[in-house]
Amino acid sequence: MQLQASNPPLDAYWMPFTANRDFKKSPRLLASASGHHYIANDGRRLYDGFSGLWTSGLGHCHPKIVEAVQHQVAHLDLCMGFQAGHNKAFELAENLTKIAPKGLEHCFFTNSGSESVDTALKIALGYHRARGEATRTRLIGRQRGYHGVNFGGISVGGIGPNRKMFGANLINGVDHLSHTHNLEHAAFSHGLPEWGAHLVDELEALVALHDASTIAAVIVEPVAGSTGILPPPVGYLERLRDVCTRNGILLIFDEVITGFGRVGEAFAAQRFGVSPDIITAAKGLTNGVIPMGAVLLGEDIYKAFMHGPEQGIELFHGYTYSGHPVAAAAGLATLEVYKAEGTFAQARELESTFAKELHQFDHYPKVIDVRNIGLMGAIELEPRKGSPGARGLEVHKQCFWEEDLVIRNNMDILQFSPFLNSRPADLRDMFAAVKRVIDKVA
Ligand SMILES: Cc1ncc(COP(=O)(O)O)c(C=O)c1O
Repeated sequence: MQLQASNPPLDAYWMPFTANRDFKKSPRLLASASGHHYIANDGRRLYDGFSGLWTSGLGHCHPKIVEAVQHQVAHLDLCMGFQAGHNKAFELAENLTKIAPKGLEHCFFTNSGSESVDTALKIALGYHRARGEATRTRLIGRQRGYHGVNFGGISVGGIGPNRKMFGANLINGVDHLSHTHNLEHAAFSHGLPEWGAHLVDELEALVALHDASTIAAVIVEPVAGSTGILPPPVGYLERLRDVCTRNGILLIFDEVITGFGRVGEAFAAQRFGVSPDIITAAKGLTNGVIPMGAVLLGEDIYKAFMHGPEQGIELFHGYTYSGHPVAAAAGLATLEVYKAEGTFAQARELESTFAKELHQFDHYPKVIDVRNIGLMGAIELEPRKGSPGARGLEVHKQCFWEEDLVIRNNMDILQFSPFLNSRPADLRDMFAAVKRVIDKVA
């Protein structure tokens, strides 16, 4: 591991989803990573409580994945991906569909979660058109949904700041269901809240308003991640599935976070026993090592496109790097490690320890909610009067500088996404550190 590094000039790089001016005053720069830790530029060893950015459930620099990537980059660094291919992309698609929920037998590769979402939306629209139901153009998302940052994703997404600058240019014909966050009825739920399945009635209302024949798809995260870990209310996803099925609407689960063991199964669809028509994935597909995303879909949808002259392209969509050889090699190695190490079962086993540690903050001073499912957890702090987000950011920074701990805050919500193979003692230490910081901040 590199032990430390000096800081470079910071001005040129415009950082994503970061308070740039604030960051550049106290840059939190990381020089290397191994297993469950980072080494910061100043040489300190920090525990990673967020497993990368929900990405690296197996830990950083897993030797099997590193080896696969090193081998691949020296053998086939790139292969023309349109009208030509290479074995590993086909093998990865095959292996991925084997662990996917039954019936999702095909896979389209992208390079990120955002691209997976926009690809899935296009496939949903194209599917209906190919079947002669071209009036099905309406898309339905949910408030507080995060579906990446491309135009399709922010249109179905439900985060005000992500949308407001681009409001006039969002795609047409999108509605949003209400989110399921409710401090009055569902605060301090352990696992799935009892309250909230009735919110699916809003979908029935939209069907009544617009007519089912105009609606192409509904997209939700089975557990909303980025906006603060909102586990689905008991019965919610089942009801959503039922309304979609009865009305010929495709149900898309955005599993960019929940995929690959985060909720103790390969996909949240399996954990919750609800089968979507399409799944979007990324992050854990390669353990975050190489950017890659995937869209999983069934035979029915695939077949709808496979008509017309055989020399014709069936879907006018794709990326230069779809199925990139190095990413595919990383993906294959990652899936092998998940299997060999029994990672998804490991995550499921850790869930109760994680929940116990997290819920010690129930009704704690300055804490207004604690939520969890799988290895996803949130502590929602009471915002400071007139300064929303300040307390959360301060906790994040104090964890980094004073407790050698990396956690994420979204406004005043502290988010935890521990490694799927975390050591229980590390989880205890992490929450002890968080407690010290919460006690300290004003
Ligand atoms: C549910 C969900 N969808 C899509 C995305 C976008 O993924 P990316 O940042 O790889 O484009 C994310 C990223 O966090 C996500 O959580």
